[in-house]
Amino acid sequence: MTVPDRLKTPRAFLFADPAAHSLSPRMHGAAFAHAGLRGTYEARRVSAAELPAAVAGLRAPDVLGANLSLPHKEAALPLLDSLSDAARAIGAVNTVIHETGQLRGENTDAPGLLAALRDAGLAELPPGAPVVILGAGGAARAAAFVALRDLRRPAWIVNRTLERAQALADEFQAFGEVWAASAGATPWDAAPLVINASSAGLNDPGQTPLDAALLARLPAGALVYDMVYKPAETRLMREARALGLSADNGLGMLAHQARLAFRAWTGADVPAHVFLDALRPPEPA
Ligand SMILES: NC(=O)c1ccc[n+]([C@@H]2O[C@H](COP(=O)([O-])OP(=O)(O)OC[C@H]3O[C@@H](n4cnc5c(N)ncnc54)[C@H](OP(=O)(O)O)[C@@H]3O)[C@@H](O)[C@H]2O)c1
Repeated sequence: MTVPDRLKTPRAFLFADPAAHSLSPRMHGAAFAHAGLRGTYEARRVSAAELPAAVAGLRAPDVLGANLSLPHKEAALPLLDSLSDAARAIGAVNTVIHETGQLRGENTDAPGLLAALRDAGLAELPPGAPVVILGAGGAARAAAFVALRDLRRPAWIVNRTLERAQALADEFQAFGEVWAASAGATPWDAAPLVINASSAGLNDPGQTPLDAALLARLPAGALVYDMVYKPAETRLMREARALGLSADNGLGMLAHQARLAFRAWTGADVPAHVFLDALRPPEPA
């Protein structure tokens, strides 16, 4: 899809609650400028009760679509006209695409994660070896989809609440070999890739989803990908690096999911570095 000429100032949104601290306006503002489009991207605080009306408003002719974040990624599904295969399988929509009155739900978190893992050195990991996913919420569902469907690797789901990990593993059986396990029963020494899709460390930098003693059981050369990106080096990343492992934060995933949403809305293939550069804090004057 390309932006029609009649759309002099196309609009896109983020619906989330809270929304004030989102980095998405910076990224999409930079992308509009790079693409030479006079578009706007506005982060709106939308409560659960307000979501149906906000989504209905996306059918306006000058609207390209919206990103959805907590707590709307699952709740929006029945409000849309169609869903991509990934959005349906993951059960979450982070990008709504408006095309002539029709709203399509897409999940760019999953391909965004895949692109970020490639940037972080995925190609150097032994093929076919298992992935351990920490967490069992929406982000973990996207990670399980990537592990099973895109990477065709077996997956172990490890979550604070084991029942939720088990429910996710049961649901994703159709996509490949997937198990739920307690941290103690997980085959860490066989897993060259660990993805933190839990919120541990998000609001408390002292927190980690994985004890250093378990990290130490990962094979040499393993990659630890933390979807959390504040602070830029999380405790999980710091402890993994101290053991000589590779580690990366979730900024790459954030940038790539935005790049893919922007491309779906406008047809413009803005390079990932534009989104990543927009995430860097401004240089002190
Ligand atoms: N980088 C990106 O672009 C990107 C994209 C999407 C999400 N994320 C990040 O991914 C994380 C998860 O997001 P989500 O949407 O999946 O959230 P969610 O649906 O609320 O799930 C949160 C998960 O984290 C677990 N958890 C929470 N606090 C924990 C703690 N202290 N120790 C261990 N586990 C804990 C929960 O376990 P229980 O089941 O036991 O409650 C649950 O499995 C967030 O940090 C989010 O910011 C990043």
